[in-house]
Amino acid sequence: MNGERVRIVEVGPRDGLQNEPGEVPTEVKLELIERLADAGLPAVEATAFVSPKWIPQMADHTEVLERLRRKPGVDYPVLTPNLKGFEAARAAGAREVAIFGAASEAFSRKNINCSIAESLERFQPVVREAKKHGIKVRGYVSCVVGCPYEGDVKPAKAAEVAGALYDMGCYEVSLGDTIGVGTPARTKAMIEACASRVPMDKLAGHYHDTYGQALANIYASLECGVRTFDASIAGLGGCPYAAGASGNVATEDVVYMMNGLGMRTGVDLDKLVAAGEWICAILKKTPSSKAGRAISAKRARA
Ligand code: HMG
Ligand code: MG
Repeated sequence: MNGERVRIVEVGPRDGLQNEPGEVPTEVKLELIERLADAGLPAVEATAFVSPKWIPQMADHTEVLERLRRKPGVDYPVLTPNLKGFEAARAAGAREVAIFGAASEAFSRKNINCSIAESLERFQPVVREAKKHGIKVRGYVSCVVGCPYEGDVKPAKAAEVAGALYDMGCYEVSLGDTIGVGTPARTKAMIEACASRVPMDKLAGHYHDTYGQALANIYASLECGVRTFDASIAGLGGCPYAAGASGNVATEDVVYMMNGLGMRTGVDLDKLVAAGEWICAILKKTPSSKAGRAISAKRARA
């Protein structure tokens, strides 16, 4: 692993802020995205073109995407659950979108109001239109190891949905442990099953940290050969349709671990920690990143 490159996809402005109880001003979202890109993250998921009735926190999606100061070389994917969302995202200047399905029927219904099979049908025209306009499509599978409604999810089910998204034309499939119940052995079994349908270098890990296992699951995934991971600044977030789930693994912790492993992320950890402190001060919360808190405390003592 030493010397190898790891790609971190920052999802805080979307996965993090979609779960904030209060209203986060658009200006704050824009500055957060810019700070994260300035810290060297190669991709910052900016917002979600979902129904404002379902997720009011993302209602300013058009303004966020239109006003974004884009840093050259950085991708700014946005979630699009259907053609309506895709068309709005395209009109606002999206160059990358993400479709999001699930490996659990119950979660699919709660999250996007349709069955898994219906969701895959809904995604087809999104991918077709995206290809026509030269827009990249990323795929997500939620609940790849466990579901808040159905319990354990079999690796074969995660692999089936991941395979369907890849076959449809997604350039990468991000595997979501939405409620953070995975442990390294189960995560490895899930990755290995998915790798039988999708090339390993087209898989990404998206691990929420509810049970404190996310970093261990990332390490297990690295051992399998995964080199792309989603993470959220200061560990912000959760999922509105997975009660009790905490945020994604904190980006600061992932970068700290990758630095220690000698892996290259291109991210400036000091700038990242500063961005985490900044957004947490605005949201009036303590960063859940242990590395972030330790670095801040060390800086304060110096
Ligand atoms: P629906 O109610 O079944 O949709 O929702 P519909 O087609 O019947 O339309 C109903 C209304 O919504 C209509 O408006 C549509 O125009 C409108 P009305 O006539 O009532 O005024 N509508 C939309 N408005 C804006 N943007 C759209 C859109 N589509 C329809 N794209 C829908 C279906 C998918 C829209 C809804 O269920 C939804 O928005 N769900 C989003 C849920 C969500 O954002 N969840 C969080 C993100 S996923 C996640 O966090 C997991 C992830 O991080 C990975 C992991 O951790 O596992 C990615
Ligand atoms: Mg998530």
